[in-house]
Amino acid sequence: MQIFLDTAEIREIAPRADQIDGITTNPSLIARSGASMSERIGEIARTVPGPVSAEVIATDLEGMLDEGRRLHAIADNVIIKLPLTMAGLQAARVFGKEDIPTNVTLCFSLNQALMAARAGATFVSPFVGRVEDAGGDGIGLLKAIRDVYDQFGFETAILAASLRNQAHVEAAALAGCDAATVPVKIFDRMIRHSQTDSGLDAFMADWAAGGLDRSV
Ligand code: G3P
Repeated sequence: MQIFLDTAEIREIAPRADQIDGITTNPSLIARSGASMSERIGEIARTVPGPVSAEVIATDLEGMLDEGRRLHAIADNVIIKLPLTMAGLQAARVFGKEDIPTNVTLCFSLNQALMAARAGATFVSPFVGRVEDAGGDGIGLLKAIRDVYDQFGFETAILAASLRNQAHVEAAALAGCDAATVPVKIFDRMIRHSQTDSGLDAFMADWAAGGLDRSV
């Protein structure tokens, strides 16, 4: 499963760039960064070679097409994030014909995921945490999408989003998602483990107590 970082902060991306497959952003994250959309997306696309999702602000088809083409012109690895609306699905079909990759986002149901795949989306982003916030089964949604995509041979990649903890990431992997996007806090927790830390401390202490030459 590919791991993307869900952030627009270069200070978070740069030190982890060699361990991630791509970046997802959204209008909230770009606004929080204080940078302009084009400036920040350009910086990110130069930092990470993998796909960088940049979301359109327009909600009408023509506006989405215009913004999406401008965003993709920033760099080849910029992919266009479109909301799962009628206009977003229409834009996904147009971008598909233009070989511009898309990430259809704000997906909360199996029907929506089905429509995104039918529109030829490159990625679909089901929002696990927000489904659970509303009392739904976010992980169940991922499994259902996987089943239906496999059953019909859809090639749209499932990008699990709105993941709120490490268990969500593990469940997304077990559900067969193609990718998961995580905030940096979860990314770091995927690597660290208290027993790794204490085990390493013990190895180092034993080595120091042995008084041996450090060279190998
Ligand atoms: O990738 C989507 C993500 O940014 C939404 O996460 O935690 O705001 O629901 P959250």
